[in-house]
Amino acid sequence: MKEAVSKLVSSIPDGLWRDAEAAAAAVRRAPTVVVATHIDADGIAAASIAKLVLERMGISHDVQFFKKLDDAAIASLKSEGSGLVWFTDLGSGSASKLEGFTAVISDHHVPDAGGRNARTKAQALLSDFSAPCQVNPHMHGISGASDLSGAGATFLVAIAADERNADLAALAVLGSVGDLQDQKTRRLEGINRDILSLAVASGFVEAEEDIRYFGRETRPLFKMLQYSSDPFLPGITGNEQECISFLLSLGIELKEGDAWRTWAMLSSDEKAKIITALRDHLSMRRRKQETIDRLTGEAYVLTREEPGTPVRDVKEFATLLNACGRHRRGDVGLSICVGDRGPALSEGYALLKDHRYALRKALESAKNRGITRMKHIQFFDAEDDIEETIVGTIAGMLLGGSGSDRTAPMVAFADSMEPSDVPMVKVSSRGTQELVARGMDLSEAMRTIAGRMGGVGGGHNIAAGATIPSDRKDEFLGLLDEMVGSQLSR
Ligand code: C5P
Ligand code: C5P
Ligand code: ZN
Repeated sequence: MKEAVSKLVSSIPDGLWRDAEAAAAAVRRAPTVVVATHIDADGIAAASIAKLVLERMGISHDVQFFKKLDDAAIASLKSEGSGLVWFTDLGSGSASKLEGFTAVISDHHVPDAGGRNARTKAQALLSDFSAPCQVNPHMHGISGASDLSGAGATFLVAIAADERNADLAALAVLGSVGDLQDQKTRRLEGINRDILSLAVASGFVEAEEDIRYFGRETRPLFKMLQYSSDPFLPGITGNEQECISFLLSLGIELKEGDAWRTWAMLSSDEKAKIITALRDHLSMRRRKQETIDRLTGEAYVLTREEPGTPVRDVKEFATLLNACGRHRRGDVGLSICVGDRGPALSEGYALLKDHRYALRKALESAKNRGITRMKHIQFFDAEDDIEETIVGTIAGMLLGGSGSDRTAPMVAFADSMEPSDVPMVKVSSRGTQELVARGMDLSEAMRTIAGRMGGVGGGHNIAAGATIPSDRKDEFLGLLDEMVGSQLSR
């Protein structure tokens, strides 16, 4: 363990580690702490790390969840009083608005310019923290889209506070997988990889090369194939009867007693047989090698969890957390992360069921409304059909779905139900690794254009969001199309 911690610390830039140490010192000095976090899986995982660190330090604290850090959220946090605010998985995008706060930020969103300046100031004023101290990979030339999550940045503060917090590494892995940081190479990379080594060394996580489809622990085998999307299996995806026939033709038993068998219940021979058959299926249909390669990748298992439950497979756990946070019950996800396997987990299951239903309905609605292709972007407007908290997930699903046009980022609108002086609309955008490699930066585009309209926006090059006045949608689309075009040509 000690060795794995030293390896992690020596592999990250000195400046990033110094920031983590400064943040840990500030937390330690605080009489009370409010943890302000984002509502998604990474945000919940990040907050659970902060919560456990504070508990171990004996510091009284409270966790609050935010969809975004806008002026209203900042004002509400300011009214909390004199304690320290620990921003996790958010904060960097609005750091310039946080001067005057007694705060630390452990985040991986692209920092705003004010935030970057604030860092220099914070370093000069380490003793009084009149500017928030930030732990953010972007400030040290490291990608916050692929190499470190919000939970990962928070974990760095945790081990800077006390090496024994290294046992929380699995929660950082959970956050990174929740933010799809393993998508690019089909495994965790960068600082995430060193954190993974710690999680493995601590005995909580196993990493194994396996099938990448969702639902290895809990979906009946044929359902896992039926819902397969990356890669899409021609003739099999979406076709229940074909999934069953395909498995039977390989001599795979579908049931064990009365229960449907899941991928996790198969022997390694059975798994290998299915993977080989799926590879052959794709190659006979002339799919590119890189598509076929996406069948398998590194999968992460939480070995101490009950087999057959969604908290055993890291991807499924992350979806459970999204189900909680994106439906206003981040607190339930938090309880599950810190160890509740009783009432909170049961409530989580119910939220997961609702989340699946909401996603299915939302996907249908977006498809019915239709996607409009502009020159450099494509979009759909869900109006009040889809909740603003899941419209981004739907945009990502549509971009990754079968027959999708992956040559332009997907942009989605949903009416915002947040109280506001004028009607506002939530915008979500999702891109592909190929578009990012060509220069697309959705975070920059969202922040710049929303900012010009009196809205707020930001995120990552590959996935970003904003909230803007509803009556400026068309103008927004025009500006975004133009900006993405110029990013792709530079
Ligand atoms: O706020 P936060 O950083 O936690 O959210 C990142 C978002 O970006 C997640 O919703 C995640 O699903 C999305 N993402 C994506 N594709 C990627 C990486 C991240 O859609 N390759
Ligand atoms: O909300 P959505 O899932 O589309 O967000 C995608 C990414 O953009 C997330 O990382 C989120 O934190 C970020 N975002 C942001 N500011 C906003 C909206 C979203 O930084 N106003
Ligand atoms: Zn995140």
